[in-house]
Amino acid sequence: MASSCSSSLHFLLFSSLILFSFSPSSSQQSFRPKALLLPVSKDASTRQYVTTISQRTPLVPINLVLDLGGQFLWVDCDQNYVSSTYRPARCGSAQCSRARANGCGDCFSAPRPGCNNNTCSVFPDNTVTRTATSGEVAQDVVVVQSTNGFNPGRNVSAPNFVFSCAPTSLLEGLAGGAVGMAGLGWTRIAFPSQFSSTFSFQRKFAICLSSSKGVVFFGESPYVFFPNVDASQLLSFTPLFINPVSTASAFTQGEPSAEYFIGVTSINVDDNVVPLNSTLLYMDSQGVGGTKISTVNPYTVLEDSIYKAVTEAFINASAARNITRAASVAPFDVCFDSSNILGTRLGASVPTINLVLVGDVTWSIYGANSMVVVNQDVYCLGFVNGGNNPRTSIVIGGLQLENILVQFDLTTSQLGFSSLLNGRQTSCANFNTTSIA
Ligand SMILES: *[C@@H]1O[C@H](CO)[C@@H](O)[C@H](O)[C@H]1NC(C)=O
Ligand SMILES: *[C@@H]1O[C@H](CO)[C@@H](O)[C@H](O)[C@H]1NC(C)=O
Ligand SMILES: *[C@@H]1O[C@H](CO)[C@@H](O)[C@H](O)[C@H]1NC(C)=O
Ligand SMILES: *[C@@H]1O[C@H](CO)[C@@H](O)[C@H](O)[C@H]1NC(C)=O
Ligand SMILES: *[C@@H]1O[C@H](CO)[C@@H](O)[C@H](O)[C@H]1NC(C)=O
Ligand SMILES: *[C@@H]1O[C@H](CO)[C@@H](O)[C@H](O)[C@H]1NC(C)=O
Repeated sequence: MASSCSSSLHFLLFSSLILFSFSPSSSQQSFRPKALLLPVSKDASTRQYVTTISQRTPLVPINLVLDLGGQFLWVDCDQNYVSSTYRPARCGSAQCSRARANGCGDCFSAPRPGCNNNTCSVFPDNTVTRTATSGEVAQDVVVVQSTNGFNPGRNVSAPNFVFSCAPTSLLEGLAGGAVGMAGLGWTRIAFPSQFSSTFSFQRKFAICLSSSKGVVFFGESPYVFFPNVDASQLLSFTPLFINPVSTASAFTQGEPSAEYFIGVTSINVDDNVVPLNSTLLYMDSQGVGGTKISTVNPYTVLEDSIYKAVTEAFINASAARNITRAASVAPFDVCFDSSNILGTRLGASVPTINLVLVGDVTWSIYGANSMVVVNQDVYCLGFVNGGNNPRTSIVIGGLQLENILVQFDLTTSQLGFSSLLNGRQTSCANFNTTSIA
């Protein structure tokens, strides 16, 4: 691919397509996107959500596991990292302070991406296996699609996107073909903050996942799904909370968590309140307890006593609907004979699990988000037991997030969540991610 670069004019040419780069000083002619779009697919074997961006010069598409609460972008720089625009972050630079770098030093082998002298480092974290290493902070070009909220638009370039290098070994446990993780967390160098400062839009993003394809939007709504459903108009809001104590696998003292926490105040099943130890629902000053949202957990994880109470209520409410138990199928304990379960637009017709949230709004979990179809005869409740004394009492996982638009507004600290899009005869797979060639 032929490419040339004229830094004074801030534009790059790729295969006859003009990509403008943006800085507050770019010319008045520059195209300023209102929003950006990342395509997402679900990896069948790991149940991870995988996105694709283009990075480096010349540009290459790279697959990354989506990590909602991840601190930043990290990629394997040991293998196949070739780029004329790779720039390591020198000790003491603005990039190092934005990255909250925890170390600074030299590398005692031949210089290459990931190994340079006088550079700062952070801890790239594989949040699937909970393994962290040390990695060089760097900058390179990142290219993604813009959107007007209806269709994909032209590709836009973030020329100085900050990320961390990682060794190949950190990829263990990630979906096949992934070369790192895309962190969307609450830090200055995660995707939402970097994109909003590069393109001057609100620090706001939304995820819409499904068992097939989905999307992540950064910036302004609308977010319009075929046939003309603007999911940004369907939101209920509850506050987002910062956990003051990092939840990363490795961190320095005093660092807050990059993850997104919300407040569950009670849970009911088919309108019956589930008796719970409310201490577990609130996050204490040490950041223990409470509820977070994770795209890395395929199913919602509940602390042992919460799990037992919710599943007992669910089993009772199912019995009242003449739905009978079936043998467990790992990793699920609670499974049912499907013969008395009807199919509806909102999924299997089973008891509704309602999470009542701060602000007195209810996140209703219908069959489409609660049941796993193990086979034609057996459906299991897609929640797992997190044991005693987990750090976080409730971790809302992937299955429970599918076909719902979930918006994170980091300026107002509000989470917006839609009802199940199936109820509007659309789904998260219905956003047009196909650009004109
Ligand atoms: C735009 O970027 C996407 C994702 O990075 C890439 O797949 C696509 O080929 C690019 N399109 C053009 C016309 O360069
Ligand atoms: C870093 O500096 C040391 C000492 O000058 C040198 O031996 C080493 O090769 C350098 N490493 C890199 C990656 O440039
Ligand atoms: C409720 O949970 C807290 C935190 O784990 C625990 O200290 C307390 O003993 C529990 N209360 C009851 C009644 O089980
Ligand atoms: C579930 O049903 C059993 C047996 O009828 C009853 O003892 C128990 O209290 C019920 N639990 C809930 C949470 O409704
Ligand atoms: C419950 O299911 C059984 C077996 O499928 C059926 O014979 C019975 O009529 C059902 N009862 C009700 C109240 O639906
Ligand atoms: C999807 O978006 C592309 C690019 O804007 C457009 O050319 C195409 O017609 C759209 N497809 C549909 C089905 O709307």
